[in-house]
Amino acid sequence: MVRILDLEEYAYKNNIPIMMSDGIEFMCDYIKKNNVKSILEIGTAIGYSAIKMALVDKDIHITTIERDKARYDLAVKNICDFNLENQISVILDDAFNVELNNMFDLIFIDAAKSQYIKFFEKFKKNLKKTGTIISDNLDFHGLVKSNEIIESRNVRGIVRKLRNYIEFLENNKEFETSFYTIGDGIGVSKWQS
Ligand SMILES: C[S@@+](CC[C@H](N)C(=O)[O-])C[C@H]1O[C@@H](n2cnc3c(N)ncnc32)[C@H](O)[C@@H]1O
Repeated sequence: MVRILDLEEYAYKNNIPIMMSDGIEFMCDYIKKNNVKSILEIGTAIGYSAIKMALVDKDIHITTIERDKARYDLAVKNICDFNLENQISVILDDAFNVELNNMFDLIFIDAAKSQYIKFFEKFKKNLKKTGTIISDNLDFHGLVKSNEIIESRNVRGIVRKLRNYIEFLENNKEFETSFYTIGDGIGVSKWQS
């Protein structure tokens, strides 16, 4: 029998980035308190966060998108092992190729960090008027708020894009965002009233 701990260990050993434990606990708590029933997740990896969210309540349905075939295969297997295939639908594709007509209570952005503005702009049309967009990794291991010089060009690029994303959220006329230093940094965005 597969346990949540097995998924955490697998992710750790194989360098697969999954949500930090206090980050996913925050999400699950948010889902419970706000009676969230429909979730779109961008970035499945091996299905860890989707499984944790689905386990909050059997009436929750999650659509999750993953572009990496090996991770998608493993996510599908893990979801079956937890008997959650009725609650979680996994789409194998680049999120930018996916067109959805459903409306969701919650959209969770946890994919390529350099593309967050584009994910947000693409999928906001699928968010209910009472819905929430949650974005993970906004602190990016503390680097986003730090003044330290970053050697790696790649990491520097990600940090710059995440700073742009935070500025985009702070100045957004349609959405109001609260920022939390939980996990790797979480943003909770709601339509402006
Ligand atoms: C941080 S991991 C997701 C972790 C997962 N949400 C969890 O906590 O268990 C990000 C995943 O997003 C996928 N990804 C990145 N960009 C994507 C895109 N444009 N479309 C679909 N998947 C994408 C990556 O392949 C990677 O597996």
